[in-house]
Amino acid sequence: MQILTTAAGLQAYTEQARRAGHRVGLVPTMGALHAGHLQLVQAARAECNEVVTTIFVNPTQFNNAEDFRLYPRVPEADAELLGPAGCTALFVPSVEEIYPQPAVLRFDFGALERVMEGAHRPGHFNGVATVVSKIFHMARPHRAYFGQKDWQQVAIIRQLVADLSFDLEIVACPTIREADGLAMSSRNRRLDAAARAAAPLLYQVLVAAAAQVRQGVSPAQVQAEAEATLAREPLLTPEYVEVADAQTLQPLVEYQPGRAVVLCLAAHLGGVRLIDNVVVDA
Ligand code: PAF
Repeated sequence: MQILTTAAGLQAYTEQARRAGHRVGLVPTMGALHAGHLQLVQAARAECNEVVTTIFVNPTQFNNAEDFRLYPRVPEADAELLGPAGCTALFVPSVEEIYPQPAVLRFDFGALERVMEGAHRPGHFNGVATVVSKIFHMARPHRAYFGQKDWQQVAIIRQLVADLSFDLEIVACPTIREADGLAMSSRNRRLDAAARAAAPLLYQVLVAAAAQVRQGVSPAQVQAEAEATLAREPLLTPEYVEVADAQTLQPLVEYQPGRAVVLCLAAHLGGVRLIDNVVVDA
């Protein structure tokens, strides 16, 4: 596995691969890798000759300086996991390499970003869109792989690709969970024992809510009961629970025939902010 640290090095690597007729898969990450990330690398490897993983804790997508400071960083351990998973090149740029000057361009994803993560983390998706656009330009991949745990992020990136005519395909891979249901996340490393023990409640609430959606319980009641269950756990501070259209992400007043529903939540648990979602197919 090659280690690349400059944009020019990444461009040269993928350009050569393209000239050789190879397909390039890209897995953008912020590191502290877990089985969910490795699944993205493996999926990319199954479909592409070259798999470029990027590790960059992107400062512009954090609306909370403490969250950025505490984000787990374990570069050596990450690098050891990537080769065996099928990664052929690892791009680990500095902040100066990605942002030689502060980015002033502003993205507006309209209704897609006025809800959930976009509403609760102002500027978050602007930072995501900025860094993802830069990395797409540098790597020019044929396919880019993202996890469905960040359901709204995938929707935003699909919109970005469509609006800016990036010549690539977005592949979304299912959420990987611990045995007790907790969605894998780099942030899980920061949970202490008590918070870790309480964390499976997030998925349990989503599973119960999904069953109610299938039974036709109204979106408002599903949301209220999920919020009430989360509020009963003293270690947990819910931020939002949404019952939304899986494509438009807009909150539902009633279910629409033939349209999938996504149940999303965010909560703080022992000082760590976690998100999760479950999709109920139409
Ligand atoms: O999902 C993430 O890890 C990040 O938001 C991403 C897509 C790598 C952009 O920094």
